[in-house]
Amino acid sequence: MKRKWWQDAIIYQIYIRSFNDSNNDGIGDFNGIIEKLDYLEDLGINAVWVSPHYESPMDDNGYDISDFFKVSEDYGTLEDVKEFIKQAHSRNIKVIFDLVLNHTSDEHEWFRKACDPNDKDHVKYHDYYIWQPPKFDYEGKRQMPTNWRSWFGGPVWEYNEPTDEYYLHIFSKKMPDLNWRNEDMKKELKDMAKWWIDLGVDGFRVDASNHLEKDWTFPEGHPGYEYFSSLPKHHDYLEEMGVDVFLPNDVMAMGEAGGATKEEAIKYCGFEHNEFDMLIHFGHCWADTTDNHLTPGKWAKGDLRVTDIKNSFDRWHQMLQGVGWNLIYWHNHDHPRVISHYGSDKEYHTQSGKMLAYTLYLMPGTPICYQGEEIGMTNVDYDNLEDFRDVEVFTEYNNFKQFGASHEVSMQALRDRSRDNARNPYQWNNNEHGGFSTTTPWMNSNKNYKDINLEQQMNDSDSILNTYKTLFKLRKVLNISDGKMTFLEKDSNDSYIFLNKLEDTELLVVANFRDYDIDVTIDIDFTGFKPLLHNYEKRNVSNRMSLKPFEAIVYKK
Ligand code: NOJ
Repeated sequence: MKRKWWQDAIIYQIYIRSFNDSNNDGIGDFNGIIEKLDYLEDLGINAVWVSPHYESPMDDNGYDISDFFKVSEDYGTLEDVKEFIKQAHSRNIKVIFDLVLNHTSDEHEWFRKACDPNDKDHVKYHDYYIWQPPKFDYEGKRQMPTNWRSWFGGPVWEYNEPTDEYYLHIFSKKMPDLNWRNEDMKKELKDMAKWWIDLGVDGFRVDASNHLEKDWTFPEGHPGYEYFSSLPKHHDYLEEMGVDVFLPNDVMAMGEAGGATKEEAIKYCGFEHNEFDMLIHFGHCWADTTDNHLTPGKWAKGDLRVTDIKNSFDRWHQMLQGVGWNLIYWHNHDHPRVISHYGSDKEYHTQSGKMLAYTLYLMPGTPICYQGEEIGMTNVDYDNLEDFRDVEVFTEYNNFKQFGASHEVSMQALRDRSRDNARNPYQWNNNEHGGFSTTTPWMNSNKNYKDINLEQQMNDSDSILNTYKTLFKLRKVLNISDGKMTFLEKDSNDSYIFLNKLEDTELLVVANFRDYDIDVTIDIDFTGFKPLLHNYEKRNVSNRMSLKPFEAIVYKK
């Protein structure tokens, strides 16, 4: 296969709402991104993925789209988008937009028509969505068609009185799911994607890509994910998007899907398959869940299983070796900040930030860096429920209450696990609101912006930021994305040690994921390995080493 630009890319994810506010209305925007392109170029990234920028009532911060062809007024105009693409390209930065194909907003014109039996186009658009008649209990009371639960915590069904039916929404009730069995609907989505490609977009991140097919026999199931996620037929739809849209237009496509088997992984992003080029997978993302009936599922924070993180990265590397291309990242806008999650956001902030950087960015594959990760931005510090913004937070808070969780327990779960942790404003400097805006932002800044901000780290040669810059340079010079990786001490639940064999060199990364000292055994021939990077002090490698909290050392041969 001819080498593609995305194989050498370092992608930077921009959550536009919180990146940089150019017009001081408290919300980030395209001109705000343009203002920071020089910074991004200097950081060493060469592609940006921008979270959804389309017209939206913002129930789910733009993943609920009411017009695919319009730019949200919050973020600017179509002219601003064109200028952004032009300016990014002039710096050799590729542009990746989010493509949301599983649902629209309930305020989308299609859905309005679908709900209204008197609309002249009702029949056509009704079939763009997924409907079921009510069930009735023995007293004749109306019931939902199934007991499936949405990914955001409530039921997946919402009643529409004018048609006396329920519509399906696997996310919020303002996000009705589209019917991928409808050919006209599919054609409209394909045309829409082409329209953005014609504006110069280089790639897409395809949202919720494993949810497109549903089980239309609607069996009961609680939560019932097996009836609306990863059904075999969704691969046909993705293949169709690949063949009709992504491949002929030579745009990169990266999907999003959890829990893939090897066979599926190869379908999603194997070189011989047409669905995507790369896949965002989640095996390493929640490596510390436990059993907790008060705040269950991802909200239940327990001990870290370093082995789960290593196993997931290793599994994907091995599965795709030679047959497809892997994507690596610590977290995105749906997860807690990695430094708070797997590192230390207080005592060992700098050491753990660097350790997490060495361990991720020296692995093979194409990396995605989430905005603020490069300066070690931390989880939110909110004391009040009203400070949170995510639609998911409020449904889940009510669930926790029903399960018997106190307000304090629920608030801690939100501060540890909610998606809002990654969504607060970027901390540019120590001006009010971290320099994000001069007005109160749509979501409060973390008060630690006075200590953790870009300007401060630019002036400190020993900062996390400078480690990121070094690693990004190194990735290019050594072709790190092409390496062959082998983990050592794989069963250790404390250490993270791997070799990355490159064309004419080899890297050995030795790291401690714990906030206490650990002993490690490194069973290889050390001849020729010299220390290259370290977050405490330079040390030669030896068979048995004692590592300080979050200590990490990189050796090169
Ligand atoms: C995945 C996105 O990353 C998430 O933020 C969004 O809420 C859902 N898909 C629904 O679009």
